[in-house]
Amino acid sequence: MNNIKFEYLKDPEVFQINRLNAHSDHIYYTPYMKYEDLRILQNGNFKFFYAKNLNEVKQDFYKEGFDDKDWDLIKVPGHIQLLGYGNPQYVNTMYPWDGIEDIKPPNIPSEFNPVGLYAYEFDLPKGFQKDAAFICFEGVESAFYLWLNGEFIGYSEDTFTPSEFDLSSFIKEKGNRLCIMVVRFSSGSWLEDQDFFRFSGIFRDVYLYTTPKIHIYDMFVKPEVLEDLKKAELKCEFEIVNKENLNGFIYFKLYDENNTLIKVSEKLKVSKNVTLNASLDNINLWNAEIPYLYKLIVEICDDKGETIEIVEQKIGFRRFEMKDKLMLLNGKRIVFKGVNRHEFNARYGRNISKEDILWDIKCMKKNNINAVRTSHYPNQKELYSLCDEYGIYVIDEANIETHGTWSFIKDLKYENIVPCDNEVWKGAVIDRGNSMVQRDKNHPSILIWSCGNESFGGKVLYDLSNFYRNTDNSRLVHYEGVANDRRYNDTSDMESRMYLKPQHIKEYLENNPEKPYISCEYAHSMGNACGNLEKYTKLADEYSMYQGGFIWDFIDQAIYNKDPNGEEYLATGGDFFDRPNDAYFCGNGLVFADRKESPKMKEVKFAYRDVEIFCDENYITIINKNNWLNTDKYEFHFELLENGLIIKKGKFLLDLNPQSRKTLDLPCAIPDKNCEYILTVSMCLKEDEIWEKAGYELSFGQGVVKKAVFKEIVEKSSNVICGNENIGFKMKNSSCLYFKPIGKLNSIKSNNKEFILSEIKPDFWRAPIDNDLGNKNTYKWAKWKIASLYAFKTKEKLEDSKLYVTYDLNIDKQIQCEFLYEFMYENKFSLTFTLENSGELIDMPAFGFSFEMPSFFSNVKWYGRGPFETYQDRKHGAKIGIYENKVADNYTDYLNPQECGNKTDLRFIEITDNEGSGLRIFSEDLFECSVLPYTSHEIESAHHKNNLPKQSKTVVHVCKKKCGVGGDDAWGAPVHPEYLVNLEGKMSFKVYFEVN
Ligand code: GAL
Ligand code: MG
Repeated sequence: MNNIKFEYLKDPEVFQINRLNAHSDHIYYTPYMKYEDLRILQNGNFKFFYAKNLNEVKQDFYKEGFDDKDWDLIKVPGHIQLLGYGNPQYVNTMYPWDGIEDIKPPNIPSEFNPVGLYAYEFDLPKGFQKDAAFICFEGVESAFYLWLNGEFIGYSEDTFTPSEFDLSSFIKEKGNRLCIMVVRFSSGSWLEDQDFFRFSGIFRDVYLYTTPKIHIYDMFVKPEVLEDLKKAELKCEFEIVNKENLNGFIYFKLYDENNTLIKVSEKLKVSKNVTLNASLDNINLWNAEIPYLYKLIVEICDDKGETIEIVEQKIGFRRFEMKDKLMLLNGKRIVFKGVNRHEFNARYGRNISKEDILWDIKCMKKNNINAVRTSHYPNQKELYSLCDEYGIYVIDEANIETHGTWSFIKDLKYENIVPCDNEVWKGAVIDRGNSMVQRDKNHPSILIWSCGNESFGGKVLYDLSNFYRNTDNSRLVHYEGVANDRRYNDTSDMESRMYLKPQHIKEYLENNPEKPYISCEYAHSMGNACGNLEKYTKLADEYSMYQGGFIWDFIDQAIYNKDPNGEEYLATGGDFFDRPNDAYFCGNGLVFADRKESPKMKEVKFAYRDVEIFCDENYITIINKNNWLNTDKYEFHFELLENGLIIKKGKFLLDLNPQSRKTLDLPCAIPDKNCEYILTVSMCLKEDEIWEKAGYELSFGQGVVKKAVFKEIVEKSSNVICGNENIGFKMKNSSCLYFKPIGKLNSIKSNNKEFILSEIKPDFWRAPIDNDLGNKNTYKWAKWKIASLYAFKTKEKLEDSKLYVTYDLNIDKQIQCEFLYEFMYENKFSLTFTLENSGELIDMPAFGFSFEMPSFFSNVKWYGRGPFETYQDRKHGAKIGIYENKVADNYTDYLNPQECGNKTDLRFIEITDNEGSGLRIFSEDLFECSVLPYTSHEIESAHHKNNLPKQSKTVVHVCKKKCGVGGDDAWGAPVHPEYLVNLEGKMSFKVYFEVN
């Protein structure tokens, strides 16, 4: 080949040239060479030239003698756009070139299509024969050409599955020059319109590999569990490459978890295709609760009995089937407590490390997550082995998404949708499915193959689903997109939907459904979100055909960037001057991009718990919802709190079978005092697990077992000093000042220390959360922001030490707002805040007041839910107790700065300085409060955290109630009615301040 055949790029029917057939990713070695010697990582620095588009490509760059002396060096693997060339671009449904170049599928942009030319020299590795030298690229985005020593080797598309080539014809002992041309956009890009950062380049590992003379090229292990769930037929199908037609034998040995040999198969003569069978009794089954794995060792010997190759594969016996409209694993209905997960790292994009993968898996196990959907492409292969080992169910998803070819399009026509019924795409679509299945098929954790995401419906995906079924009958097939096109409803074995609200899921389940239901995406967790999660998880108790769902999503996709002051921050779409872009929409994670768990994760952990614990005045009830695990694996801890302080604790063990419940008496007597008593029972690991140490809590239940009766505070009044413009209230060791012209309390003083930086005022505002923007709450609520900023006093009235202040909120004449202060001699005062609405019901972000304190009041202590932030619709994962932290700890770093740090179910809160002076705020009724270093308006105006002011104050926002965060989706779903702050009639709220 002389000229580079650019035409491959836009031909959907050319998605590979000379690429080796996809095959299983098993480990193999010989008596003389380890796996690592047979497969040699080529990661490192490659010569690099960045061309803005194909026109700038040096067409002879791959030829022998080409001088690449002036080229740069680039790190492999990595995304070109994170290594100094061009910009990452974040777009959701639109294609990256939307509004930039007008192209229709399968064409590619001509101006905006960066190309990376890579060159790299190597010698034939030690132990390699020239006639058995291959190369494997685990992931290249989105298409590449390959040359060795000036000769064309091949071409490949599909960013997320391996591309392997045989280098044998052109390889030399020394001084090989490998050239790779990576093109950012190809026809394949039409199939890669996932909602993620768009990059290009060689971003996963590259290996040179060789194979023994007789080599297992592909292996399909089929551990078929029989109906009695005790016996199994192990069937192993091999495809063997034996170029020299040597004589040889193949057999396998099977070891259990203790490394005890339990089976040796027959020995068969080596031929191209061989199947070995074995029958087994009393097998241990694999499931996510008890991920029992066996080790299979396959050996090929020559006719003298010398070992030629050994293959090692962990296998799991499990039976997954659709029976009576239910998905059953080993005969039991399972419920997916799942998450969607993009591969992401805040510095390296989708070039994530093995440590990242392990961290993610451990994080899932620690938070009771039992399933992952590899949204929306096959992941690095390490993930699947870890899911086998740690016990996580997997939906493995093919790299197919064509969202922008059919959404936001008027006059949608089947012929314009990719792939729909258009046969030109069929080859590429099936190829993507095939590459995934062949690589991943030996992993017991994968229960379901997915046809991709958001690619509409149609015949081609239906064909893909049948391809899966015909290739592998041990799994089911998933595809959500049939909801758009019911012509091919059978594409999906289960009814899978995204973002259906709980009531709509119920409707489906109550109307004689044909298929069990899962939400492949739900509880869109953008920013401060994830409310009302339990409304979904409870469905699993009510409807057997509800089999769980996958939260959107596991980790924020955000990338470290530097602002003009050199400060690092986590950047989203648009921050890289990427246009067009979808701004913050890439951040929907339960885990922040720096791999810190967000407060949302706590709610997930609670909602996904497998053992439920309830405490009331009389009993503890424990429900074991596991299918296979007895609770004797755990240790239970109890704690009795008296007014928030632990007065008793202990431990007990419980032998409770899966799928059963038990009621226990309270473990201790409750004292007869006027105090609040709270009992907490936690379930913790008894022994170390590979993912966490003994003692780690997995579930808890808490109940107020006895309430305290609130004693009305009747105290002597304070002294009052009526000045011209001020009214002073003198208490025993403290004083307050009310400034008439502004109509607000602007001083609280004790021991010559001033507590107030900015006066106490009605405050109904919260910095908009992403959901508030999506559902237009912000637009609807805007008047409450104005009221919070600009409310002014209309009158005041003093009666002894009682001060009444009325404010005009300028919202509606029908809304009256009044503060009533009562000052008491014993360094206390109360504030009763009344709102009265004589008009129609309206709702607001929060019913409360706020003030600022000097920043040396930097300590917070509270009795309520904690230690992390909670909201009315997201507080179940937080225990009631007494907690302490620093003001700055209360800021949660959502990508888009927004409302955060709230505390619910408060009995009291204290804000103090390091000498112990400060305010204690308490109330007869539970209340809410946040204490932050910023005002809601400052938070709202900041684009990212780095735009916030330096810490110079303590902002206290005390509320009777704050609106919930919402939890269904971020593009319109309202906060559920019970979590709104509704104003109808008269509403009032009384809190006490104690000045110390
Ligand atoms: C879904 C989609 C995801 C993501 C999410 C919004 O429609 O499948 O990839 O875009 O919405 O964050
Ligand atoms: Mg999409």
